Amino acid sequence: MPFTDNRRFKAHPRIVVGAKDMYYISDDGREILDGTAGLWCVNAGHCRPKIVEAVRQQVGQLDYAPPFRMGHPGAFELSERLIRFFPGGFDHVFFGNSGSEAVESALKIAIAYHRVRGEASRTRLIGRERGYHGVGFGGISVGGIGPVRKAFGSLLPGVDHLPHTHNLEQNAFSRGQPQWGAHLADELERLVQLHDASTIAAVIVEPVAGSTGVLIPPVGYLERLRGICDRHGILLIFDEVITAFGRLGASSATEYFGVVPDMITIAKGLTNATVPMGAVLTRPGIYEAFMNAAPENAIELAHGYTYSGHPLACAAALATLEVYEEEGLFAHAQELSTYWEESVQGLKGLPHVIDIRNLGLVAGIELESIPGKVGERATQCLIQCFERGLMIRVTGDIIALSPPLIIRPEHIDRMMEILSTVLQKVD
Ligand SMILES: Cc1ncc(COP(=O)(O)O)c(C=O)c1O
Repeated sequence: MPFTDNRRFKAHPRIVVGAKDMYYISDDGREILDGTAGLWCVNAGHCRPKIVEAVRQQVGQLDYAPPFRMGHPGAFELSERLIRFFPGGFDHVFFGNSGSEAVESALKIAIAYHRVRGEASRTRLIGRERGYHGVGFGGISVGGIGPVRKAFGSLLPGVDHLPHTHNLEQNAFSRGQPQWGAHLADELERLVQLHDASTIAAVIVEPVAGSTGVLIPPVGYLERLRGICDRHGILLIFDEVITAFGRLGASSATEYFGVVPDMITIAKGLTNATVPMGAVLTRPGIYEAFMNAAPENAIELAHGYTYSGHPLACAAALATLEVYEEEGLFAHAQELSTYWEESVQGLKGLPHVIDIRNLGLVAGIELESIPGKVGERATQCLIQCFERGLMIRVTGDIIALSPPLIIRPEHIDRMMEILSTVLQKVD
């Protein structure tokens, strides 16, 4: 099983057989409150009728359309919708089927973009320590989580990393963006001096790092990255696989922080996770560079997937975007974010808790590790929370919470009640 302690799971499986709105149903018939929107993806809640109906209807009408040299209306309609959805003037969309594929596509587009413009020496990619960008070889190379990389050889050459921004001495129990740490973006200047700008294609970061355990960008950090990229002609990619579609109480981190990258990668909440889909959005000039460079009638970008822009995924995404809008879910998330912050920060003082961080409807609760057994304490929390009717996500000894945006205060109260009981019980 993916990212699973298989032997422990098989000894004590956790199986879900149904889902509705804020809840999963386990195989023993219990309601499990979804504290993680599945895997940061079911932002509109489970089995929403409008989305289910759209997929059902689409599968009976056009089940599949080849995306190479063929098209179908749903893919074009969705790209136009996404271009209007994101602020910052993005003007083209390239579809894949997951966050990992979106990242691979963005990295390849970045390198090829410089090449078609006559700057073929710009091949270097810069990621960040503790970054997570999926599991393709590009993604794990720019990613910075040791266990995700270490078993897989030498990875891509020509990759470097910025330092991460996590610092408990400076920022423990920050509410929202921490004040300390913007200067860490200046490390990019150091990498430019080291490698020379003429070798660097792109910098990729998660605006809010999720999978590593919720790291919120320090005030001013993303702005500084943007400034340095601009000075040196480096493309800035925001991996918004978890931050887009309302997680921060805005359409995207791009909107929330007011910093516009050159490319955005998205997935997860794009289709409410009903059908897998990922995509890259590009700013003006990128698409044109490919069109202008290729000989007439040539294929301009030799890249794509059999299921790029799959009709079912397009139908799910279009219906999902309607649900977000009709129900005002991003505004709802924004309104609830203060209650969320008070509630999660209220866990301060419970046994083992060494930090709590939050933004929008995201929170990370960091626990002190048991010496020599990193991750064990949080894993025990996950197991015990599930037994008590709450699904959480853990990474190392950090509990990550990211509920569906339809959550109400009584659900938050219940989540905190279960978490607080469990935190008092685990060793
Ligand atoms: C920021 C980010 N990028 C990429 C991915 C990979 O997405 P997927 O698992 O759909 O390939 C994830 C998954 O959690 C993610 O959080």
